[in-house]
Amino acid sequence: MQNEAPESRWFHLGMADDLATPNAFVTTRVGAVPLVAQNIKGRVVAFRNVCTHRFAVIHGEPAGCGPLRCPYHGWSFDADGVPVGLPFNPTDFQLEAEGRRRLALHPASLARCGRLVFVRVAVDGPSLEEELGTSLFARLTALSDAFTHRGDAVEPAEDWETIGAANLRLHLAPDGVLVLHSAAPPGADRRFSRTITLYPATADTELPA
Ligand code: FES
Repeated sequence: MQNEAPESRWFHLGMADDLATPNAFVTTRVGAVPLVAQNIKGRVVAFRNVCTHRFAVIHGEPAGCGPLRCPYHGWSFDADGVPVGLPFNPTDFQLEAEGRRRLALHPASLARCGRLVFVRVAVDGPSLEEELGTSLFARLTALSDAFTHRGDAVEPAEDWETIGAANLRLHLAPDGVLVLHSAAPPGADRRFSRTITLYPATADTELPA
């Protein structure tokens, strides 16, 4: 079942391997809300990509590798969203532990379906599996686990199977190529649209039906 409000819906963001290394991040925007998923010391978490000091966007690029640190006054945030590095704190902010906790980043929802990573603005709501449905969730899990290698971009042909899930279109070739196209969520520009071409790990990989 799909809720009409974009803030209440899941959107595909990328692949788990995009976020596998410490400090790797991927961003998007849903309506007026910038979102970021980030690996912080091995933990992958999602927040509104908005600094709680003076509301600057923290990561301006669609993806990259760098600490969750605001470019304006240098506040950096831990995996709970709490500001932990505040330059000039003793003179300028004087924030103790409780004050910092009150200025934690707003959390967002993060979910995985196999190696596919989805985000949602709303913290509460149906799980990704509930929104997609059990059989589609299982199929996407199996496909994303089977097609593990990125390779040369291929244009989907008319005889390929197309599977739709949230903002994601999967184009599956009969000979074992999977093209993922994530449309930018409502309110996001085309920088947040992503296309990935995936191949099985080996020629012998058993592909799901
Ligand atoms: S606006 Fe982010 S640290 Fe000041």
